[in-house]
Amino acid sequence: MIYVIACVAAIAGLLFGYDEGIIAGALGPLHAQFDISPLQEGLMTATVPLGALAGAAVGGWLAAPFGRRSLLMGAAVLFVIGALVCALAPSILVLSLGRLLLGFAIGVAALIAPLYISEMAPAATRGMLVSIYQLAITLGIFGAYLVDFGVGDSWRIMFATAVIPGILLFAGVSFLTDTPRWLVLRGRRQEAGEVIAHVQGRGASDPSVTGELAAIELAARAETSTAGWRELFGPLVRPALLVGTGLFLLQQLSGINAVIYFAPTVFARAGFSDTANQLLATVGIGAVNVVMTLVAMALIDRIGRRRLMFIGFAGAALSLGLIAVAAGTGAPDLQWLSLIGLVLYIASFAIALGPLPWVMMSEIFPLRLRGLGMGAASLTNWAFNFLVVLTFPVLLQALGLAGVFSIYALVCVAGLVFTARYVPETSGLTLEEIEAHLKAGKPFRALGLMPRAA
Ligand code: BGC
Repeated sequence: MIYVIACVAAIAGLLFGYDEGIIAGALGPLHAQFDISPLQEGLMTATVPLGALAGAAVGGWLAAPFGRRSLLMGAAVLFVIGALVCALAPSILVLSLGRLLLGFAIGVAALIAPLYISEMAPAATRGMLVSIYQLAITLGIFGAYLVDFGVGDSWRIMFATAVIPGILLFAGVSFLTDTPRWLVLRGRRQEAGEVIAHVQGRGASDPSVTGELAAIELAARAETSTAGWRELFGPLVRPALLVGTGLFLLQQLSGINAVIYFAPTVFARAGFSDTANQLLATVGIGAVNVVMTLVAMALIDRIGRRRLMFIGFAGAALSLGLIAVAAGTGAPDLQWLSLIGLVLYIASFAIALGPLPWVMMSEIFPLRLRGLGMGAASLTNWAFNFLVVLTFPVLLQALGLAGVFSIYALVCVAGLVFTARYVPETSGLTLEEIEAHLKAGKPFRALGLMPRAA
């Protein structure tokens, strides 16, 4: 049952990735049809992260009063409308407005879908289940690259195909209930018990069902006042806020979307002169992203979050460094060194830097502040996504591939230090155990490294 729930919520991730990736191939045919200035092009590309920034801001506030399920359904409706506006757009202005709407829906869904999954999932498989969401993002990007490659000049078809997963998301979520944790917060205890029993596949009076319900109620009861930003920045929750936002800042400044949005451009700079080869290499990058996310899912609840994070940052720093050195020294094999470097970079990203910020943001905040905390983490994600996408073309021109990738490599080195100093180990712990540790004021970093209470 839980896998069905995770898959439906993850359709939101598919839409996210699809709408991110599609612009890479759509830019060419759009240029052929419209007279687009560089400023218009930059703005049109960055409207998705910009809209998502607004969506994440609003989604954080609305998660508590409206519930996770209604917000996902609302986002699905916006996805469909946004895709139609883009597909039928008579001008670049309308297309940009359509993308702004899509971005808004992505911002809401990107916040609510992992929250929904983590609040439904049992502790033992929560990391893997939230990673389904990241897997869906990578599948969406890969699908978009394939469509870009396959439909040639028909940019309207590229945008229109996003309507289908939008409808699927709406239909799928309409069959699901809200999460037991939100139901408890609204005082709907009996329904919460029924949902837990359904997810666990046991009777409502089974001890494991009543035990989970009691733990959620305890966490909810400890909180009576209204959740607010001040509390989020307060001394008890601040360590979680630092980790939630810090991981996304590092994820984005590692340069991932310079590669995702502009892969053909990067390959052109690295010596692939033929457009078809650039697009083919781009599809290859998309495939490695998917496969390594699957590997991450197999490892995440087994070898732990921290160890994976170290592997990811180290691999990303080394591979970005390799590309920077090859490009900076004008190595005769630049083309192949860059290809190897980019494959290793995407693999390192997908195994850790991609899924882990999503997983951890959904588990480290206390229940009552979870919507708000995840909102803040998502805002960080989109703000730095926007910054990287907007600045990459300018930086590339000013500093060259070697200069830009050196900056991203240094960010990954900083990621190693950040992980060592601040990131706790959360695998195998229940959301309530994590919350209890945080509220006890114990050092957050010590979580998971201390002996567990029997
Ligand atoms: C990031 C996206 C990125 C994607 C690539 C996600 O975790 O948040 O910005 O495009 O991974 O797979």
